[in-house]
Amino acid sequence: MLSVGDVVDATFELRERLARGGMSVVWRAYHRGLRRDVALKLTPVQDAVRVERLLREANRLSRVRAPSLVEVLHAGHDPVHGVAFLVMPLLLGETLAERLRSEGPLSRDELVAMLLDVAAALEALHEVGIVHRDVSAGNVLLKKSEAGRVLGATLIDLGISWEATSAPVTTTGHIPGTWGYIAPELAREGAKPTPRSDQYALAVLAYEAAEGARPFAGELPEVVFARQASQTPKPCHACGKPVGAAIERAMERDPELRFDSVLDFASAAAGLRRTVDLQYVWRSYREVAKTLGALGGLLGAVLLFIWIVSSLEGVPTKAVSTSALDGGAPARVDGGPPQGR
Ligand SMILES: Nc1ncnc2c1ncn2[C@@H]1O[C@H](COP(=O)(O)OP(=O)(O)OP(=O)(O)O)[C@@H](O)[C@H]1O
Ligand SMILES: [Mg+2]
Repeated sequence: MLSVGDVVDATFELRERLARGGMSVVWRAYHRGLRRDVALKLTPVQDAVRVERLLREANRLSRVRAPSLVEVLHAGHDPVHGVAFLVMPLLLGETLAERLRSEGPLSRDELVAMLLDVAAALEALHEVGIVHRDVSAGNVLLKKSEAGRVLGATLIDLGISWEATSAPVTTTGHIPGTWGYIAPELAREGAKPTPRSDQYALAVLAYEAAEGARPFAGELPEVVFARQASQTPKPCHACGKPVGAAIERAMERDPELRFDSVLDFASAAAGLRRTVDLQYVWRSYREVAKTLGALGGLLGAVLLFIWIVSSLEGVPTKAVSTSALDGGAPARVDGGPPQGR
């Protein structure tokens, strides 16, 4: 158990414990070499899964550079204290989750500033095939002005990020991510996380930042998830027009109907591009078009049938009963008056 004053890897003097997550503890630590404070994410070396996860996070962060994605400065392990660690610049400011608890929702301008930054960080990850998989209010650190206005954000925590080289996805019993942000399509067995599932989570985050609550409520995660999978979110009234419309599209249950990229989503929310483009209209109405096509085909078949029947009615036809063939009086001849009465 580490405490204030301990020195990790003979370099990092622990000053203040910032947070204890599910898999790690984050400290503010003084870097003796650089003579400045850094953020130190630690996990016990006995837990091989956690260590692997931390080192994978360090590796992925080291491969992607974006101004709004947290940087990794160093990673390693300290056998003396039995910890693996990841070193990051110390980001000042609170998480979006903390801000929502302390002061409530963001203004529209603040929301757009945050959204553009988080989207840019995600886009950089997506470009190299990494899906964040845990976009949530606890993983976004806000950048603020002296006066306390939100000017942007930094995305952190690649702990459960995913890329094609990751282990196969099994969803039995557990879907990695934070409840309420997980895209509904990820419930399917073997479903892989995609940039579009990150986009869904980002839309939930934007909604929450504006309204102060997530689009689907419920006590149990399963209930929330069932609602996400079957219901359309309530409109985000606090969002205003472009943001609200962009969120609606980014939260489409069918990933195909979402924006092509997180950046397209954020740009539409910021009013920098159309929320609804022709491609979206076409995709949305493709199903309707298919149904209309099927109905058209059916109507054609019915008309053809009617035409055939009416043409046959014009041709005199005679059906003679077997009694006529037997030599008796014809019992009935179609198309003529009844005979033999
Ligand atoms: N670079 C940083 N600067 C300042 N605070 C940070 C930094 N990185 C993380 N934190 C704080 O620590 C908290 C936990 O960090 P993070 O989300 O990376 O860990 P975690 O949730 O435990 O991750 P994991 O899911 O990998 O276990 C954050 O919510 C934030 O408050
Ligand atoms: Mg986290």
